[in-house]
Parts: sequence; structure tokens; C-alpha cells
Amino acid sequence: MSIPAQADGAEPGTTTDATAGETAGATLTKDAAPGEILLKVTGLQKHFPIRKGLLQRQTGAVRAVDGIDFEVRSGETLGVVGESGCGKSTMGRLITRLLEPTAGTVEFEGKDITHLGVGGMRPLRRDVQMIFQDPYSSLNPRHTIGTIVGAPFRLQKVTPEGGIKKEVQRLLSVVGLNPEHYNRYPHEFSGGQRQRIGIARALALNPKLVVADEPVSALDVSIQAQVVNLLDDLQQELGLTYVIIAHDLSVVRHVSDRIAVMYLGKIVELADRDALYKAPMHPYTKALMSAVPIPDPKRRSAKSERILLRGDVPSPISPPSGCRFHTRCWKATEICKTTEPPLLELKPGQRVACHHPENFEDQAPQDTVLLSAAKDAGELVPDAVLAESAETSEALAAEVAEAAEATGEAEVAEEGAEKSNSDDK
Ligand SMILES: Nc1ncnc2c1ncn2[C@@H]1O[C@H](COP(=O)(O)OP(=O)(O)OP(=O)(O)O)[C@@H](O)[C@H]1O
Ligand code: SF4
Ligand SMILES: [Mg+2]
Repeated sequence: MSIPAQADGAEPGTTTDATAGETAGATLTKDAAPGEILLKVTGLQKHFPIRKGLLQRQTGAVRAVDGIDFEVRSGETLGVVGESGCGKSTMGRLITRLLEPTAGTVEFEGKDITHLGVGGMRPLRRDVQMIFQDPYSSLNPRHTIGTIVGAPFRLQKVTPEGGIKKEVQRLLSVVGLNPEHYNRYPHEFSGGQRQRIGIARALALNPKLVVADEPVSALDVSIQAQVVNLLDDLQQELGLTYVIIAHDLSVVRHVSDRIAVMYLGKIVELADRDALYKAPMHPYTKALMSAVPIPDPKRRSAKSERILLRGDVPSPISPPSGCRFHTRCWKATEICKTTEPPLLELKPGQRVACHHPENFEDQAPQDTVLLSAAKDAGELVPDAVLAESAETSEALAAEVAEAAEATGEAEVAEEGAEKSNSDDK
């Protein structure tokens, strides 16, 4: 599941011989059996109040996360994607309990941690760690690397075997940095190296769950690959469980076992990675995917379906009625405007919130009147693109059929072919 590092050793000072596998101590290996539910989120909400006037009366709320359900199994990587402002970081901060939820529950290892206070959370702070988006602002410029990576031990009043310095140096080599650089300051390191320092700090207390909020989006593409591969290697070696947040599918595609697609505070599709890439079912997922270049030359010859999303994401202060995506969806009908589609498991391992999903039978077939907003969205897509879209549906159906044949799942093949036929009519 790793992507090739394009410029291995390109970062000065990065040790190439000290790989995670060679240096990770046995003490870091987790004992949880793979596949157990580690984190479970139910109906999770975070509404930020908007206050106005002298009396600071609440006049509304930003519905940043507006009722999401998912679980993360031990040892897996859940990728979370969505456009800017859809609530990804808020979700990450809620599950690491850096924010207090407005409603819903967060369970960790079967224990309800939704409203634990500072004292109750202290032991959990070791098990759940966060890697932040910006390696430039998330490291204190006045502290040495040794102080930064050693801080979790001091905060938790934990003394590792052999002392903090020795353990910090070991962690630095685990993430591919030179342990001799213990006394250097953050400004002496490149962006990729700083992100490695952030990873070392997150690993210090031997966590079970690591939530990485856009861990590579501030880095150059060649360095992105190295950091993503490092996370992947560490997962294999240390049995970590990840929630990796990204704003597009290209980063999470390579490392995720499952992917959750968020739109305006909701999860609209949650599926196994392969199922999501082979046959996305939510129109928004399909639109996000059309923005990702197709690396496989075989697939490139089958014309790619380009779906152009019109306009900005609506405001999370007053999200659209019914399906929140209806103001931008080219398939929207009247029911989409009035009735919110629930997140349903339409195929094994693939949950979708849509009345008219792709690659599947319509959930609301009686309703065929296109909304005018949806017509506008359709008009924005040039005719040539729509024609290409129809062709690609056919190519996609053929691909699904091929995949199903290979795995002996004939039913999936029939669905794909039927869908393609009906698309063409
Ligand atoms: N502390 C806060 N107070 C008020 N509104 C907030 C707060 N934090 C986030 N928001 C709002 O909540 C919504 C979701 O924000 P969030 O940062 O979770 O989105 P995101 O998906 O991580 O976006 P990005 O990709 O830009 O990082 C946004 O509209 C944001 O303005
Ligand atoms: S429910 Fe309707 S508007 Fe929403 S994604 Fe599905 S087709 Fe589009
Ligand atoms: Mg964010």
C-alpha cells in the first residue's frame, strides 16, 4: 500500500539506514487483535455558536460536523476526504477529544469517552495522538527537537527505560532522522523533516490511534511520498491504527483501507478503498474522483469521466435542505430537496447517502423531475463532457464486470451492466 518515494534521501540530514523496521523496539508493538473496533463514533455533532451584539446572544451556529457515524478497526487506516470547510479537522479534533462534541458519542476500546474531563482523559492522551497539518507552526521554534519530542513524557510524567534522551534519540531514528540532531531547533530542518519530528512526537507514548490531519499537504510532492511511506511503514511495524485526513483522494488512495467522503459536515459515502475506486456510488465521490489523475495507463485509455462541480460549498451555517449536495448535484430530483438520504449499506462494505446512487439501482425511482438548480449544474458541464461521461459509465461497468468475474461475484457484474444500459437510454 505504499507509494514509491521519488526522492529518497533528498532531505539533508535524513538518515537513510535507520528505517522504522530496524529500530522500532518490541515494546512499541501493540497487543490489540487486528479487526477489533478501536474507535466508534455515533451521531457525532459539533455546532460552533455564532454570537452577536453586546449581550453576545447566540444567533445561529456553524454546523461543522452534523451527525456522523463510523468506526475504526484496530490496525486499519481510515482515510477521510472532502473539500475545504466540510468539517474534517473538526471531526479529527472531536475524536481526539481536543474539542467537546455538541451531541453524539465517541467510544474508544468500548469505553464512552465523549464527556471525560481532563483527569479522565489523561490516560487516554497516551493512546490517541494527533499529527498536525502544518509542520511549520506546530513545532515551537524556541524549543530543541529533543525538548519537543520528549514533551509527551514530561507531560504524562512517564520515564522511559534508559531515560528520556535515549528514547527521544531512538524515536528520531525510527522516523528516519539523525539522533545526533537532538539539540537542533526546528528552523534547521526542512518541511519533510519537521513533519517527521511531529510524527516522532506523536509516537512517543506508544499510541494506539493516530489521527493525522492533512499530514503532507504542506509538503512538496516528492517529500509527500516519503512521509506517506514512513507512516505506512510505521503502521506495519508498530501495529498503529490511523485516521488520515486529506482534502483530495490522491493522498489517501494509497494508504487507506477504507475511505469516508465528507460533504458539509456529513459522511456521504464510506467504503472499502477498492470498492470506492472501482465503483463510487455517491455523485460527490465521483466528482472528487474525476479531479484525481488516473495513473493506470490501461484506465487512461478508457476515457475518464470529468464531472465539474459548480460553485462553492454552501455555508455550514444554513446547509441546504434534504440532501446537502442537491444544489450542486447533476442528478438531483425533488425528493433530494425535501428528504435527507440516510447513510445505507447498499453493497457489502459500502455505505452511501443518496437517493439516486451511481452503479446501483435508484433509491427513489419514482421521482424523475430535475430541480432547476440541478439543471443549471448540468448546463455547466459541456455537452462533450456529458457524452464522454456516458461512454465512461460503460467503461466503468465493463471494469466492474471484469473485477466481479475475477472474484466470482457475478451479481456485481449484472448491476454494473444494467446501470450502464439504463444510463445510455
Ligand atoms: N472554532 C471554530 N469556531 C467557529 N467555526 C469554526 C471553528 N472551527 C471550525 N469552524 C468552521 O467549521 C467548518 C468546518 O471547519 P474544519 O476546519 O473542520 O473544516 P476542514 O474540512 O478541516 O477544512 P480545511 O480543508 O480547510 O482544513 C468551517 O466552516 C469552519 O469555518
Ligand atoms: S440524494 Fe440526490 S442530490 Fe443528493 S447526491 Fe444523491 S442524487 Fe444528488
Ligand atoms: Mg482542516
